[in-house]
Amino acid sequence: MTQVSAAGPEAQTPNKAQISEIVDGIYRICHPPRNYPIGFNQFLIDDERPTLIHTGFYDSYDAVRAAVAQVLDPKRLAYVVIGHFEADECGGMDRFVQEAPNSVLVASELGVGVNLNHWNYRGPVKGMRDGDGLDLGHHRLRFWETPHVHHWDSLMVVEETTTSLFPADLFIQPGDQPPVVKENLAREMLGFYRKAGIFAHEAPVRQVVNRIERLNPAWIHPMHGGSFTRELAPHFCRALHEEQFAFNGMLRGRELPEEARAA
Ligand SMILES: [Fe+2]
Ligand SMILES: [Fe+2]
Repeated sequence: MTQVSAAGPEAQTPNKAQISEIVDGIYRICHPPRNYPIGFNQFLIDDERPTLIHTGFYDSYDAVRAAVAQVLDPKRLAYVVIGHFEADECGGMDRFVQEAPNSVLVASELGVGVNLNHWNYRGPVKGMRDGDGLDLGHHRLRFWETPHVHHWDSLMVVEETTTSLFPADLFIQPGDQPPVVKENLAREMLGFYRKAGIFAHEAPVRQVVNRIERLNPAWIHPMHGGSFTRELAPHFCRALHEEQFAFNGMLRGRELPEEARAA
């Protein structure tokens, strides 16, 4: 596993990203926690048709681009995949696509229809339905529609040659986590979800957890926290099946007034 630092124009400031190869040409680009209790990851797949999964915030663009450039020329990017329409997933999308002449933005078909076609994004875009795939050369992507985990337009990605799952905001681990985590952080995950209130209900999440258990991926690459292997997955899955973690009156650590929660 290689690990180097990459920095944008704000070099020497905390706005720099670490890049580490996790498995077979799949790199994790990470901004460690700074103003938030979580770090922010993007994933780069180095292949004939290089692919970036999540872009990071608008202001993270320079640092993420510098990290990508440590592995390949960002002009070569073929696909920029966003799991849902939220700033940390897609804040840099237009600039990554603009720089790479053959690149396409990839989102769920629903996300394209309700968000991207009506935003100020004017570049090429491809909408995916459940089961659709993309051939990257050596790697192959398969898309899952996972509505309401945690957004209406949510999309997860499976890389089939490594059986890697990119679950976006499922399996979050707060704190500064290494590229690969080895410890059971399920309790910390649940505590974060309860405080942040990112899931409306447990049911859609548990349906997707069932599907993940059937896939039994060798690797899971959350966008907040560290990647982990299938040995650790049952701890996280069991916690999501058995414990309460959906919205219960807390939004990002702030309790809503009683009036806003009263039935
Ligand atoms: Fe999100
Ligand atoms: Fe996220």
